[in-house]
Amino acid sequence: MIGQEFSKALLSVYNGEQFGEAFFSRLLPTAENQMQSYILGSLLQLETEGKIVMRPLMLKLGLPLADNENAIADGASAAQAMMDMSWTNKFVAIVSIIREHGLPQYEALAGMVSAEEEKAAYDLALFMGEHERVILAAAENMVAGKKDPMSPLAKFLNFPLDPPY
Ligand SMILES: [Fe+2]
Repeated sequence: MIGQEFSKALLSVYNGEQFGEAFFSRLLPTAENQMQSYILGSLLQLETEGKIVMRPLMLKLGLPLADNENAIADGASAAQAMMDMSWTNKFVAIVSIIREHGLPQYEALAGMVSAEEEKAAYDLALFMGEHERVILAAAENMVAGKKDPMSPLAKFLNFPLDPPY
């Protein structure tokens, strides 16, 4: 039996994906070259796929699949607040947002559902935790100036973008 606590947390995570999608979508026009478009586009792809993966269970639990306009507006304004930051500083800020807010919230999901009782929910909870760790790893690679920063996404995306190299 899936409890209210899990359902509520799952909906927050779904809203988080909408926040993330709006955020990276608004940052994309700031890309100054193909590499930056590839990086922001890959992160956008990850957020879009995050939404898609969640929908079967969301519907089963009677949760709303519709866009959440508040989450989208918050994502857009978070991006707007970063417009004047340098490319690297944007990722410094992204790392701290994920560490402080995203990761604790996403990783908590798995503690709210039992693997024996509801395997699909538990698997999704684990997947969303991994999803957030993948974004964090990619953003940390950006800050560290790694050569192939988006490599953590490769095993994760169903529809990966081709790097421009
Ligand atoms: Fe996400």
